[in-house]
Amino acid sequence: MSLDEITVVLRVRPRRWLLTGSAGFIGSHLLEVLLRHGQTVTSLDNFSTGHRANLEEVREAVGEEAWSRHTFIEGDIADPEVCRHACEGASIVLHQAALGSVPRSIKDPLATHRSNATGFVNLLAAACEANVRRFVYAASSSTYGDSLTLPKVEDRIGRPLSPYAVTKYLNELYAEVFSRCYGIETIGLRYFNVFGPRQDPNGAYAAVIPRWVAEMLSNKRSVINGDGETSRDFCFVANAVQANLRAALTDNPQAVNQVYNVAVGERTTLNQLHELIAGALGGVRSDLRIRPPEYADFRPGDVRHSLADIGKARRLLGYAPTHTVQQGLREAIGWYVSKAAVPA
Ligand SMILES: NC(=O)c1ccc[n+]([C@@H]2O[C@H](COP(=O)([O-])OP(=O)(O)OC[C@H]3O[C@@H](n4cnc5c(N)ncnc54)[C@H](O)[C@@H]3O)[C@@H](O)[C@H]2O)c1
Repeated sequence: MSLDEITVVLRVRPRRWLLTGSAGFIGSHLLEVLLRHGQTVTSLDNFSTGHRANLEEVREAVGEEAWSRHTFIEGDIADPEVCRHACEGASIVLHQAALGSVPRSIKDPLATHRSNATGFVNLLAAACEANVRRFVYAASSSTYGDSLTLPKVEDRIGRPLSPYAVTKYLNELYAEVFSRCYGIETIGLRYFNVFGPRQDPNGAYAAVIPRWVAEMLSNKRSVINGDGETSRDFCFVANAVQANLRAALTDNPQAVNQVYNVAVGERTTLNQLHELIAGALGGVRSDLRIRPPEYADFRPGDVRHSLADIGKARRLLGYAPTHTVQQGLREAIGWYVSKAAVPA
């Protein structure tokens, strides 16, 4: 199915969706695309890391007719009753709500466990009770842990390196067992460093791209943890949205009850990333004088290299990334320049 065909499939037979984490970065993009294409969406968030402003931005982008097909529940997935209520009437769940960040999970493993493990199983159990057909969830590349194999292939994982990674792997184990025991169709999407508009630049646990953009905009030097040769497979958010839609709509029986890498399949070092962001920013703000990065210690729990083999998603879901890192940065940078707050 091409991307255009996906949107036709959505419009011809609109569905009822439950989307969790809708006030967050990736969730808000999913909300926008679903509402734009005629879907009815219940969404849920507790604003622990998400923002009302993201919901407002979606509302402005899609207009009032589309927004009227959206019901928002402010609630916590750690409460089973909230999950039951949210799942009522849904045929597809896109589960994004979780506490992200490896360092956050090392600082506060219980909070991460509460949202990412307890919250996950609450939602999955509620989805089964409500006869949800398909449950697509945000898994993570952190599940590869200490495996040195490159590129990462879905069935070869290592030992987890952080509490966050444990919770994300646990999600996969629960999903597999629930599909076996209760027949719900599950698909896990192992995102690799997703970035784009609406990714929060603020706070101690901000992801690297929005944090560096915000720092460069305020003439601060960015800190690279380690020697800068650490590498990641940075994935523009439109690619992650595409993977969710394909996972939600696939009618290939081989494609369900699986996990998939969601990335571009290209590796960028932190040193290269710094240059790419500086270049993209320079294109829209020629007045900026971007300073060279500073180097600090490696962060505990971080994996050294990350690069995805996206062959499985291509083969079984028809996934084809539309944006490289550079293309994604070019699209995202305008948003950061116009909206991003200056870091504290
Ligand atoms: N961004 C990435 O690079 C990346 C990489 C791998 C996996 N993921 C996963 O993708 C998902 C979305 O990540 P994101 O980058 O959009 O993060 P985000 O923090 O912007 O969004 C997560 C949302 O979930 C909400 N949330 C958290 N705990 C909740 C709870 N207990 N009840 C209700 N809502 C809750 C937050 O308020 C937030 O709006 C997460 O599951 C994350 O672990 C993200």
